[in-house]
Amino acid sequence: MMGAPDRYAVIGHPVAHSKSPHIHAAFAAQTGQNLTYERLLAPLNGFVATVMGFIEQGGKGLNVTLPFKLEAHALADMLTERACAAGAVNTLNIVNGLILGDNTDGVGLVVDIECNAGLPLRGKKVLLLGAGGAARGAVLPLLQAGPATLTIANRTSAKADALAREFAASANVPANICACDFSALRGRFDLVINATSASLGGELPPILPELFGSATLAYDMMYGKEPTVFMRFAARHDAATRDGLGMLVEQAAESFLLWRGVRPDTAPVYAELRASMD
Ligand code: ATR
Repeated sequence: MMGAPDRYAVIGHPVAHSKSPHIHAAFAAQTGQNLTYERLLAPLNGFVATVMGFIEQGGKGLNVTLPFKLEAHALADMLTERACAAGAVNTLNIVNGLILGDNTDGVGLVVDIECNAGLPLRGKKVLLLGAGGAARGAVLPLLQAGPATLTIANRTSAKADALAREFAASANVPANICACDFSALRGRFDLVINATSASLGGELPPILPELFGSATLAYDMMYGKEPTVFMRFAARHDAATRDGLGMLVEQAAESFLLWRGVRPDTAPVYAELRASMD
């Protein structure tokens, strides 16, 4: 006989739109894990109290979404290296009363690019557009994949400089990392990742067509029914394109792995989500 299911949830504000309950229910059904996964709406000033209440009721883990990823980072008793580097936490794992903080967004991105899009990053020229929270979370996992170079470009170039300097100074990865103004970007890249929030407003970062070629993958962390303006621009200049839906599913799979010790097969879940967006 199975005991009571373990409780998990995604916490955010708002949280009604989150696809995580659907994704984790599919993972649990596929792997036979006995768990529930719900939505937890926390008041904007009540993140810590809501997490603590969930833990007191026996909750085993949480995904954290906007706007609480920095508060989750501050709350955790222990952080993984990638959560430290990201400065943000998207996964909390409750173990023996301790709150462990992880960040699976960046590794989800890298897995989606390498395994699903079929682009191994070792030796590649990679360009990261943006220097906010989403970009920061991607830097360490990207560096660990061993690209030849990682260039960070941002509208506010001082932020890209600071990010590049910080990671170049960390001893753990042999970082070939540099920062660059959008206007100073030259030449073709193997991978261009849009980690700006420009796509949300239907805007395009000020980039030149020469960054893209037929061997370039243009990856937008945003996703939707239609290709983003960034993906359309890149496609017009011969690049292959991919949106962030795969990253969403892969970061969920990494959280599931952390909690349950088993990594689900993401392909059917991705296919079903993609089909449901049509
Ligand atoms: P997120 O958590 O999504 O990364 P963020 O931390 O607010 O959000 O960062 C947003 C990023 O998108 C920043 O790099 C921002 O550039 P600035 O640092 O110059 O503000 C970038 N961004 C937002 N709108 C943009 C636009 N229209 N064109 C180019 N970059 C944009």
